[in-house]
Amino acid sequence: MADQLRLTVDGRDVLVPAGATILGAAEAAGVEIPTLCHHPLLKPSGACRMCLVEVEGARGLLTACSTPASGGMIVRTRTDQVVAARRTVLELLVSEHPLDCLTCESTGDCRLQDYAYEYSVTGRDVAGLPNTPAADGRQAKLDDSNPFLVRDLNKCILCGRCVRICHEVMGYGAIDFVSRGATTKVTTAFDVPLEESPCVFCGNCLTICPTGALQAKTGRGLGRSFQYDRVRTICTFCGVGCSLDLHVRDGRIIGASAAEGPANRGLVCVKGHFGHDWIQSPDRLTTPLIRAGDGTFRRATWDEALDLVASRLAEIKAAHGPDAIGGLASAKCTNEENYLFQRMMRAAIGTNNVDHCARL
Ligand code: SF4
Ligand code: SF4
Ligand code: SF4
Ligand code: FES
Repeated sequence: MADQLRLTVDGRDVLVPAGATILGAAEAAGVEIPTLCHHPLLKPSGACRMCLVEVEGARGLLTACSTPASGGMIVRTRTDQVVAARRTVLELLVSEHPLDCLTCESTGDCRLQDYAYEYSVTGRDVAGLPNTPAADGRQAKLDDSNPFLVRDLNKCILCGRCVRICHEVMGYGAIDFVSRGATTKVTTAFDVPLEESPCVFCGNCLTICPTGALQAKTGRGLGRSFQYDRVRTICTFCGVGCSLDLHVRDGRIIGASAAEGPANRGLVCVKGHFGHDWIQSPDRLTTPLIRAGDGTFRRATWDEALDLVASRLAEIKAAHGPDAIGGLASAKCTNEENYLFQRMMRAAIGTNNVDHCARL
């Protein structure tokens, strides 16, 4: 079939749609190829060279993430040449990387660390390049000037994922590459703080960063990925229904991250990503309060509070009719709760005065 391509990856026959990349064909064949700059939400950029593979008849190694597959291709992903090339890529990256894994928030959740381990890379094998970050000029100051994101550009491998998600998916274009060669870095226009840029602190650059270069300020020092449990939930801030993973350690929520869900494709906004401190705030009400005649509040039980609301609604209805009452539901409730609320307003109170905050 013209719209299907048949090729071989590591000896496995695979059929893929025309237009698929070699990486896509490898995935379909169940063959894993390491990637750093590739992400399924982003256009291929071929920036990191980690996904190099050998293709029979091709000159040199090809990047699997950005090379289209073609019919009859014979692809090999683990030859000595391929492994040596990937090791060189990693050696170069690690040779100018601060080896801070002992204290890095991303330890255990870092692709660079995983691949360095898998390929036995220490960064000490690059001739002429001492493994001392101080020697290569990458001594960027930690940027924690905003309430949400901490940027440690010393740990940045210039994969460009953050830049591309900000431009291609979020559409803000708050950050980009500046300068050239060894001084290249990702930053805002004119290197202003993120707060002075078009950044909206969605944190999706953080989600997509394969290293510890971008961190959530809220959870720093409270636990790393192997120390907390991920509890899947739905964000309650609005009616979109984004999937979220809450990071829970010793019964406390120490962070949140976007999860793959039908409503959000693994992305969230600033509220879902960083707005969780209120959950455990000591200022939250734990019992209903009833206003006393002098304007002060007194604690009450739920039965007491609900009885009071029901009796006051009944009084208003008796005195002024059901249309004297209106109800506003909340986007933070579930569909089922909102359905029940409008049923209560229409069937129990007897009015159609019911609306929803999402329309305001
Ligand atoms: S970003 Fe990754 S490799 Fe770098 S210090 Fe942190 S855990 Fe280690
Ligand atoms: S937080 Fe969002 S808007 Fe800000 S730089 Fe990252 S992706 Fe762009
Ligand atoms: S900050 Fe992270 S996502 Fe952005 S270029 Fe650096 S390593 Fe890649
Ligand atoms: S993953 Fe293919 S070049 Fe980076």
